[in-house]
Amino acid sequence: MQTKRVTINAQHPETEWIKEAAQLIREGQLVALPTETVYGLGANAMDANACKEIFKVKGRPQDNPLIVHVSDLEMVKRLVEEWTPQAALCAEKFWPGPLTLVLEKTAFVPDVVSGGLGTVAIRMPKHPVALELIKEAGVPIAAPSANLSGKPSPTQGIHVWKDLKGKIPMILDGGTCSVGVESTVLDLTGEVPTILRPGGITKEELEEVLGEVVVDHPSPNQAPKAPGMKYRHYAPKGDLTLLIGERKNIIRKMSDEIRKGHSRLKKVGILCTLESAPDLHSQLPDLLFVLGSENAPEEVAGNLYEGLRLCDEQDMDIILAEGVSEKGLGFAIMNRLQKASGHRIVRV
Ligand code: TXA
Ligand code: MG
Repeated sequence: MQTKRVTINAQHPETEWIKEAAQLIREGQLVALPTETVYGLGANAMDANACKEIFKVKGRPQDNPLIVHVSDLEMVKRLVEEWTPQAALCAEKFWPGPLTLVLEKTAFVPDVVSGGLGTVAIRMPKHPVALELIKEAGVPIAAPSANLSGKPSPTQGIHVWKDLKGKIPMILDGGTCSVGVESTVLDLTGEVPTILRPGGITKEELEEVLGEVVVDHPSPNQAPKAPGMKYRHYAPKGDLTLLIGERKNIIRKMSDEIRKGHSRLKKVGILCTLESAPDLHSQLPDLLFVLGSENAPEEVAGNLYEGLRLCDEQDMDIILAEGVSEKGLGFAIMNRLQKASGHRIVRV
């Protein structure tokens, strides 16, 4: 299949491209689109066959449900049994934005979308291209991240192109996604609102609106409530180790590991903060990728997946990543780094 990748204006999307993409969505085809978090691989959420195609193209496990994207609250009504007061509060405060709400679903939502669960995950994205496309298509759009399953999520059109060219008819390339990590998935079906996946809206922000909010920490022999959280995600090909501790200890440990790696003829890549970069640069790693300042987690989130992808592209055998504070957006960043490391974490 020929993939048409068009450059689209992120703030004022060209009507021509929106119309063409919306037509494809209505015909049951797939379109990759930018959102403020990461790129999504979109299909008409009401069309079970189109959604099945998403799983095929990504190589995604069938039991991992999709997020349904809407452009207005009217669209939500058909999808959920009850629009709860908590949901209304969250929508008022955080939509459009990087927050996904899990609610009881209606029979309109195809089983393939909900992965056979009785619930549906919904979000209203903030990106003008995503919003315009949903509006023009006139249907909610189911969209997982537009990467091949297991790879880091795409935060640039070129990432989608590299993963999915030849597999889908169209990519709307709106440049770089501003948030850079996926939405927060919040389950509102229980007693207490529960974060199933940390993301672009922080626990602290949710607590301000909802009061008590808990984080789902599945124990090893229990399945996580967001099925997607059980898969090894965001994983580069090289062995990634996450280092947590004081800066000087991290720098010392990384320097040792660079030397050891080089003595075994391994390529060593470093993902670090701006503050640690000068000291690590002098240790001559094969790749030094600056995630951003430790004081600017939004910068680190924005660069994280690009860094992981670069490690792959440049064939790093060993990857050492510097941990950041878990406050605010840092919680989502550390969640992704922990997963990317396969929980290989060293405290120094
Ligand atoms: O920012 C995002 O959320 C991006 C953009 C494209 O919107 N989408 C995204 O989708 O990250 P995906 O499919 O890569 O991740 C969706 C997560 C998975 O962990 C999935 O298991 C969970 O949401 N999820 C979806 N529906 C669910 C449901 N009904 N109950 C619990 N978890 C659900
Ligand atoms: Mg994903």
